[in-house]
Amino acid sequence: MSISLKYITKLSANADTLMLTAEKDNQQSLPLSAEELKGLDEALKLKLKWVGFNEAGKKNWVIKVDAAKTTEAALENYRRAGAQACKELNKAKVAKVQLYCNNTETELNLAFLEGFILADYQFLKYFSDNNDRKNSLQSLSVLSTQFNKKACEELLHVTDAVMTARTLVNEPLSYLTAVQLSQDIAKLAKEAGFKFHYFDKKKIESLKMGGLLAVNRGSQLPPTFNILEWKPAKPLNKKPIVLVGKGVVYDTGGLSLKPTANSMDQMKSDMAGAAAVTGAFCALAKNKLNLHVIGLIPATDNRPGEDAYTPGDVVPMHNGMNVEVLNTDAEGRMILGDALSYAQQFNPELVIDLATLTGAAVAAIGPEGIVMMGTAAEKTKQRLKDSGNAVYERLVEFPMWDEYAAHIKSDIADIKNVGGPYAGAITAGKFLECFTKYDWIHLDIAGPSYIKADDHYRSKNGTGVGVRLLYHFLANYSA
Ligand code: BES
Ligand code: ZN
Ligand code: ZN
Repeated sequence: MSISLKYITKLSANADTLMLTAEKDNQQSLPLSAEELKGLDEALKLKLKWVGFNEAGKKNWVIKVDAAKTTEAALENYRRAGAQACKELNKAKVAKVQLYCNNTETELNLAFLEGFILADYQFLKYFSDNNDRKNSLQSLSVLSTQFNKKACEELLHVTDAVMTARTLVNEPLSYLTAVQLSQDIAKLAKEAGFKFHYFDKKKIESLKMGGLLAVNRGSQLPPTFNILEWKPAKPLNKKPIVLVGKGVVYDTGGLSLKPTANSMDQMKSDMAGAAAVTGAFCALAKNKLNLHVIGLIPATDNRPGEDAYTPGDVVPMHNGMNVEVLNTDAEGRMILGDALSYAQQFNPELVIDLATLTGAAVAAIGPEGIVMMGTAAEKTKQRLKDSGNAVYERLVEFPMWDEYAAHIKSDIADIKNVGGPYAGAITAGKFLECFTKYDWIHLDIAGPSYIKADDHYRSKNGTGVGVRLLYHFLANYSA
C-alpha cells in the first residue's frame, strides 16, 4: 500500500526529480539548468515553497522548507514539507520520482521522508471505485549517499505501523467488532513476529474482569481481552514494560446514551488506544527492539440493551474493588481498571495506558496534544515528554493531587465511575490510579486520535497517534 522506496547511487539524467532545499542551503548548487536556476531564484523571492519546471519532458520540482528555531520545529517543518511534496506530486499524477536533498542533514531528510510517506495514506476499502481513487505515486528513489538504508527501513516499519493503526481506527463497527479486532491483531502479530493470544468471554468471566463484563452486557457481541508480547532473548529490561490500550470498538454511551446530535459520529475511534498499542508492537517487533514489552487490550462495544449495565449498579472489578456506576458512558475506565489490575502479575517496570478517555481532555487542550498523568518517576515522564516533542505528538502533564480523589468517592461503594463537573480528565486518571501498584503513565489521546481535516501528514479521520510516540520512547529506552 505504501510508496516503495528505491535506493540509487546517482541521479538518473532523464527521470523526474524532486529537490529538497532550505533557506540556509545553497540553491544555486541544485542540479537544475541555468534557466531553471534563474526561475527558481525569482520564485523563492516571491516566497513560493513549491516550484515546478518542465524541460523537454523531464520534470523537476523544488520544495523549500521553512526555517525553524528549534530542532523539534525543524523536524516538523521537514515532515510537513514532505507531506506537501507528496500531495503536490499526487495532484500532478506522478508515479515515480527521484529525490535529491540539497543538504547533509540526515535526520531532517529522514523526517522529510516520514512526512512524505505518511501523507500518502488512504483508506479506500469501502469505495467501489477505489482503483480510480488511488494516489498516483508508486515509488520514490533516494540516493544511497544521502540516506542510510537501515535507517530508512526502520522508518518504513514505523510509518507502516502508523498506517496500520489509522486503518484500525477508520474501520467501522460493522467490520471491527471486538472479536474481529482480535483476529486482525493475530494476523498482524504473525506478520511482525510478536506473540499474541486472547481471552474469550468465558475466560474473562473466570478471571472476574467485572468492568469489562459490565460494559459488554448491553452488547449482542462478546468481549475479548488481548495479550501481545515481544520478548527478545536478552532484553535490556528485566521487568517488562506493559502497554495498555482502550479497545472500545464503539461507544454509544450505553444506557447513559450520548446526548447530542454528533457526539456519536466518531465513536468507532474509541479503540484508538488499542490501535496505538497494536501499531507500536508492529513497529517494535519488525525493528527487533531489544526490550521485553507486553500489550494488554480489553475490547468490547458499549451499547444500551435489554441487559445493559445500569446507572446505580455496583460492579466488582478484577482487583476486588467495587465501583458504583453513575454514568455508563464512563466505560473506558471500567475496562481499563481491569486491564491495569491484570498488568500487576507481570511485575512491570513501567505501565503506559493509552485511551480516548474523556471529552474533558479534548476540551482542555484540543487535538493538538495528549493529556498525560501518572505515578512514574519524573525522569521517566520527562523522557516520554521529550519523545512527544521529537515526534510532535506532544504531551501536557496534568496534576494528580490527592484532593481529586474526593471527586470519585461513592456513598455506597469503594469508588464511583464519574467525578463532578470539574477536572474530568483528571478524575478519570484518578480512577485508573486505583488499579495501579507500579510506575504508571496515563495518556488521554481523545483529542488527537481522530481529526476532521488533513493536518499536513496527519491524514483526516484516524491519525494513528501514539505509535510514533511509543516507538520513539521505547527505541531510546534505558532502565
Ligand atoms: N469515549 C468517550 C470520550 C471521548 C469523547 C473520546 C470525545 C473522543 C472524543 C468516553 O467514553 C466518554 O464518553 N467519556 C465521558 C465521561 C463522563 C461521562 C464522565 C465524557 O468525557 O463525557
Ligand atoms: Zn463513553
Ligand atoms: Zn469511550
